[in-house]
Amino acid sequence: ASLLPFNTLGLNQLCDELIHADKKEFLINTCLELYHSDKAMMVLGGGSNVVFTEDFCGSVVVVETKGIAVEQEGSDILLTVEAGEDWHSLVLFCVENGYFGIENLALIPGTVGAAPIQNIGAYGVEFKDICESVEFFDLDSSQLYEISHEDCQFGYRESIFKQQLKDRAVITAVKIRLSTSWKPNLSYAPLNSLNADTVTAKEVLDMVCHVRQSKLPDPKIIGNVGSFFKNPIIPLERFLELKQQYPNIVGFTHDDKHTKLAAGWMIDNAGLKGFAIGGASIHEQQALVLTNTGDATGTDICQLAMHVTDMIEQRFGVTLEVEPRLIARFGEVSL
Ligand code: EPU
Repeated sequence: ASLLPFNTLGLNQLCDELIHADKKEFLINTCLELYHSDKAMMVLGGGSNVVFTEDFCGSVVVVETKGIAVEQEGSDILLTVEAGEDWHSLVLFCVENGYFGIENLALIPGTVGAAPIQNIGAYGVEFKDICESVEFFDLDSSQLYEISHEDCQFGYRESIFKQQLKDRAVITAVKIRLSTSWKPNLSYAPLNSLNADTVTAKEVLDMVCHVRQSKLPDPKIIGNVGSFFKNPIIPLERFLELKQQYPNIVGFTHDDKHTKLAAGWMIDNAGLKGFAIGGASIHEQQALVLTNTGDATGTDICQLAMHVTDMIEQRFGVTLEVEPRLIARFGEVSL
């Protein structure tokens, strides 16, 4: 089967078998059976953070389970959301109903079940800030678990699901804690211009959508997976040295000893906007995004990513890490 409709980068790679799971029990049983077979398998949400670098020799299970349950706890709202729900639709649902705290995460492509894996984040909010717990089926022990937000070991684009539980946890649902009392988070630059005393959640949502739409290509029109690289975290002294050489370099405080560099700024500064290999190209409005301009192959994307990594290493002495998951013939690989 073709994976073309199931990855936002729009790569036309194949897989042996594609299985749609719209019931939790079926999802669990299917994954369990495949896990104990000798075939390769992978669980797929919205396909917005994966790069199929070649055809996949195995089964792809697409998570399509749906459902949102709402409970009120004083001024808090607890939502239990099934893994196959669309993330942005959830954000809209919450803002419409006056459940606040999620609005900065508007327009992030993908499913709810994928959100904890890389701890999605944007405009000053991360999934971890609203996560209460995550429910997953452990294919190793054949048990369903619900782990607290602390046990998910969230970090910048990191969680236990990319570490110890990699390839063995099938996320089935997440619990999110929001509030009915409104308090805007305007800490991130483009939101600073809003007035904290009068702004509504809908206005924050609209602003986030507007900013994202002006920089990030719509995957329905131009294939992409959002940021292709993580923003590297480097020691503060190293940042100050770089700042001497490149006074305009952009960095955000990570903690008192580390700075998170804007990789997009470095790629832009290296003159790479618009640079292309085959059908893969660096986006003109946001250098952190690689796009498929039509007929890119997984190989084009990887070659372009390697070129960017080499150039940034040479110019700034900084190593970039790929943000999406690279899936090769038998499973996940690194660049
Ligand atoms: N910049 C440039 N040139 C570029 C791109 C960026 O000079 O081509 C500069 C910007 O002017 C700004 C700084 O770099 O001063 C940071 O840019 P931006 O605010 O666009 O954010 P980012 O670091 O490029 C990160 C996330 C995004 C998230 C935004 C907003 C990562 C890897 N990316 O991007 O997340 O939406 O911040 O919070 O952390 C994603 O992960 O797929 C994603 C889109």
